[in-house]
Amino acid sequence: MQFRRSDFPEGFLFGAATAAYQIEGHKFGGAGSTHWDTFAATPGNVIRAEDGALACDHYHRFGEDLDLLQEAGMDAYRFSTSWARVMPDGKTPNPKGLDFYDMLTDAILERGLKPFQTLYHWELPSALADQGGWTNRDTVHRFGEFVDVITNKIGDRMDSIATVNEPWCVAFLSHFLGHHAPGLRDIRATARAMHHINLAHGEAMTRLRDKGMKNCGIVLNFDHATPLDDTQESAAAANLQDAISNRWFVEAITKGTYPTEVLAGFAPHMPDGWQDDMEQISQPIDFLGVNYYTRHRITSDPDAPWPGVRDVPGDLPLTQMDWEIYPQGLYDFLTRLSREYVGDLPLYVTENGMAWDDKVENGAVFDPERTKFVSDHILAAKRAIADGANVKGFFYWSLLDNYEWAFGYEKRFGMIHVDFDTLKRTPKASYYALKAAIARE
Ligand code: FCB
Repeated sequence: MQFRRSDFPEGFLFGAATAAYQIEGHKFGGAGSTHWDTFAATPGNVIRAEDGALACDHYHRFGEDLDLLQEAGMDAYRFSTSWARVMPDGKTPNPKGLDFYDMLTDAILERGLKPFQTLYHWELPSALADQGGWTNRDTVHRFGEFVDVITNKIGDRMDSIATVNEPWCVAFLSHFLGHHAPGLRDIRATARAMHHINLAHGEAMTRLRDKGMKNCGIVLNFDHATPLDDTQESAAAANLQDAISNRWFVEAITKGTYPTEVLAGFAPHMPDGWQDDMEQISQPIDFLGVNYYTRHRITSDPDAPWPGVRDVPGDLPLTQMDWEIYPQGLYDFLTRLSREYVGDLPLYVTENGMAWDDKVENGAVFDPERTKFVSDHILAAKRAIADGANVKGFFYWSLLDNYEWAFGYEKRFGMIHVDFDTLKRTPKASYYALKAAIARE
């Protein structure tokens, strides 16, 4: 890697991220059915109809996984607490689920790692999906109850708590594009989910503040919308795409408003009285988490209904996801967010990483592409800091190869290879490269 720990301000955190359903093994410990279980069981949604029933079996192997984080010299661990494990039917607490997170928290702390919790990384209990999931305002209140229950158990030991992971994926990717559970393609469901997920953030913030929690915020995903060409049409389309995927959330949370160009499409479908929720949505946060992976080149699609945008494959090198590698996009977002939205508020890169078709050969995984990817993105964050962005940490996505949602177990994002037959963990060369770069001199 082309950087050292000493290139970063004192206290800058290096870590890795995971999410509950993607690694734990959902069939263990009395967890309830989630909308991902039923989405995966429906033909055509997920590669080979794979689900998170076993995943990496982190439920039983978390000690080994946390040891690997510690041995890499990481400072922090970003993980999520599954709603359906804690409340299998969406309302009744499961003591085994709570005990698991209690144990996990202590195991994180015992290894000198800072726990960065995410409350919602997509395990909506099926019982709540039955009631309309995020299209139903009541789900917001049920989420608030979950926040109370899990925070009463482990909140005293968290370094940082994020309410929701990637609301754009929860709402737009899942209700408009249909790629993630619940797999809807409906503008009305989308408009409602786009608002209710922001309100769920606000509700969680209210509950966390009532309990005196510190370092609370949200994790948003940012996708660079680059105009395809110099035409006015492409500029307008890229602006609309940016408003839908990026500004809808950050503007609501930091300013209490929605971009007018998005309301132009959603207004007829918004839940009544949404304006009255904006104050709760925009209450102060302590940090903003930034997930960044790629860019899309955007132009208009005049024959399509609103939003009438389409993306055109670009010419940059691609990852196993076919995502273009564009570190400049991370710099652009970090500096833009600090300039236009959050000022001096701490920013964390809460996810950044790449999938590659990694293979174990002679007991090792050689992944120079990932080493370069991570190095280039961390250097982009470093430049952003030099240009005034208050970036406080970087979390690699992901610690382990895991269940990559609709792509099943096919896409490998980990710094640690997982053999999904034997569950053996093999740290990749990029793991050792990061370990060397962040070693204290
Ligand atoms: C993000 C998700 C994470 C993982 C990565 C690749 O959108 O937060 O769970 O799927 O992408």
